[in-house]
Amino acid sequence: MGIIFHENTKEFHLCNKEISYIFCIMQNGQPGQLYYGKRLRDRESFIHLFEEGVHDMAPCPYEGNNVFSLEYLKQEYPTYGTGDMRYPAFQIEQEDGSKITEFTYKSHRIFQGKPTLKGLPAVYVEHDDEAVTLELILSDKIIQTDLILSYTVFENYPVICRNARFEHYGDKKIVLGSAMSFNLDLPDSNYDMVDLTGAWARERYVKCHRLHEGVQSIYSMRGHSSHQFNPFFALKRPEANEDSGEALGFSLVYSGNFLGQVNTDTFDVSRVMMGIHPNEFAWTLRKGEVFQTPEAVLVYSEKGLNGMSQTFHELYRTRLARGYWRDRERPVLINSWEAMFMDFDEEKVLKLAKEAAALDIELFVLDDGWFGHRDDATSSLGDWYPDQRKLPDGVKGIAEKVEKLGMKFGLWIEPEMISKDSDLYRMHPDWMIGAPYRNKCHGRYQYVLDFTKPEVVQFIGDMIVKVLRDAPVSYIKWDLNRSISEPFSQGRDAGFQGELFHRQILGMYQLYERLRAEFPEILFESCASGGARFDPGMLYYAPQAWTSDCTDAIERLRIQYGTSFVYPLSSIGCHVSEAPNQQTCRNTSLKTRGETAYFGTFGYELDLGKLTEEEKEEIKEQVAFVKEYRSLVANGTFYRLLSPFEGDEGAWMVVSKDKKEALAGYYRQRQPMNAPYKRLFLRGLDEEMEYVVEGREESFFGDELMQAGLVISDQACGVKTAEVVQGDYQSRLFMLKAKES
Ligand code: GLA
Repeated sequence: MGIIFHENTKEFHLCNKEISYIFCIMQNGQPGQLYYGKRLRDRESFIHLFEEGVHDMAPCPYEGNNVFSLEYLKQEYPTYGTGDMRYPAFQIEQEDGSKITEFTYKSHRIFQGKPTLKGLPAVYVEHDDEAVTLELILSDKIIQTDLILSYTVFENYPVICRNARFEHYGDKKIVLGSAMSFNLDLPDSNYDMVDLTGAWARERYVKCHRLHEGVQSIYSMRGHSSHQFNPFFALKRPEANEDSGEALGFSLVYSGNFLGQVNTDTFDVSRVMMGIHPNEFAWTLRKGEVFQTPEAVLVYSEKGLNGMSQTFHELYRTRLARGYWRDRERPVLINSWEAMFMDFDEEKVLKLAKEAAALDIELFVLDDGWFGHRDDATSSLGDWYPDQRKLPDGVKGIAEKVEKLGMKFGLWIEPEMISKDSDLYRMHPDWMIGAPYRNKCHGRYQYVLDFTKPEVVQFIGDMIVKVLRDAPVSYIKWDLNRSISEPFSQGRDAGFQGELFHRQILGMYQLYERLRAEFPEILFESCASGGARFDPGMLYYAPQAWTSDCTDAIERLRIQYGTSFVYPLSSIGCHVSEAPNQQTCRNTSLKTRGETAYFGTFGYELDLGKLTEEEKEEIKEQVAFVKEYRSLVANGTFYRLLSPFEGDEGAWMVVSKDKKEALAGYYRQRQPMNAPYKRLFLRGLDEEMEYVVEGREESFFGDELMQAGLVISDQACGVKTAEVVQGDYQSRLFMLKAKES
């Protein structure tokens, strides 16, 4: 692993045993892209990959030279206004209105390790020898600004992390109109773009479309990463599938407005970039000020989409998630929301808690409705003190009573929000985002607090800290239930407004950091109307996230399948809820609900009091199962086997690192009539190991299970009938254990 600088040819080669990333300093002093992909052996020069050519009408900066034109060159961090007519990676407006900049090579630094990003989440290293970083320093002498492009290559991951930083030294102020986290010009366009799109309660559906000339993008302009698009996309070769072929993954470690874009030009160059969305972004830099972009993570896989996802999982689980809970087994929880919404008092809460404790559930989470005088969505956000009507002994009282039952206690909060009917609003109406003289849309009857103001972040933080200091709270579900619709910070000057969206996110990160620092053993779960902020940025603060407000097992198959493209199972919050399901009205068995939710961080969200004794027994068995296998699920290698988007089935599996244990889930969305034969081709096993499949008499070698498949036909001989359940919405679980040799 390393970063090789070829002094003579001014080429940089970033590589480890799997990948190479190569670029040069072009004759105009700007960095030009040469190669990104599977590892290449190093050589003095790769300049033959640098393609110039004569193009009529092309703007050429050098008199007498008509082959060097930025319009046709593959670059690292391109600008608009010096010949390149494609979308730029950044733009700087100067005091005279000019946006022309020329950043040229000044120097570079190569060092072991990976620096943190001030105020922002980022992948980290535990030891400096895990990674090497290159900081390429470019400078525009006229405006006196340095642009630092940072690249980190890891020893053990096919990953490059990138970010950009602007350091301004000039006397005259400049305004950044856009500043992407990275740009990558790929030499062809023979790719499918895979992204995760959706809406409330159907987050992260997998979509795939061929690149075409022009611009294709995913984005959020809502102030959070959104239900609509996740800050991730992949470019895969058309022939690549889950298991083989080349796939490039791009993921932004950020929770706010973003843009992920591929600009395919008519010479088939694919310009890939990702970063903060330029819409509504205008960041002023005065002398001595710095702007740091969020980090982007580039993953290379030659083992298809599963290979790409496995790299994201491992990296994000162990080098993005942090702290006390990172490697710990997560508690089986019961959440009060779907059981009682905001309609509760202490007696009702304790009744549910007792039921849960009797079923060996470990954590009780009191959701929305415990503070202010909140009986419905119209009030009390911002009043983070307990509602004495519901909780006469406060949070402390209820938490202690729950702990006496042998469970931990958790609490729901939504710190970034304000209700008009709240003491906070009556005190500080100007703390709400929006122009005072214009209408402001409500969203779920609530409004967004101005977290760009440090006093607001401090005030809200103080209130929450007080609750947490006072009571034994072990878990926090941090929610966000609306977007920013009228971005305006009251009492600020015009220049500030373009900084609002990013500063809002920085304020939120700051509050997270404060709470994490003061309460390092609290388990945080992020949430945003289900999965509207399920992004890598949040993973840095909260190691798990509420995946979706849709808890229907069949819908969850799709949602969890899509989520697994980037996010490790240890982060995917999954609850068993009641049937018929509250969102879809679909009836699924407790077995199917459990067997879907097993593949994530597990819990329940239903009124346990309504269950029959048999159902309670079944839940006890599920809880015992989760306790036994949660470490396998969280830390194993995950494989998607059958896509629920492509037929009436779905399947996935997780294999332990030593390959001695595996758990596969097979789901049937619709029962076929007179079903054809069926085999499930397993993945990730050791070819040489002999596995016992629980419930089957014979054992099988890994090669057979992967090549010939596990026979799961309804009419298969030798299969116990108990395993074969007829009907729609059925699931089967296969537990595999290697025989001791
Ligand atoms: C959001 C969350 C739910 C629940 C409610 C409470 O919708 O996603 O899980 O916490 O808010 O209001």
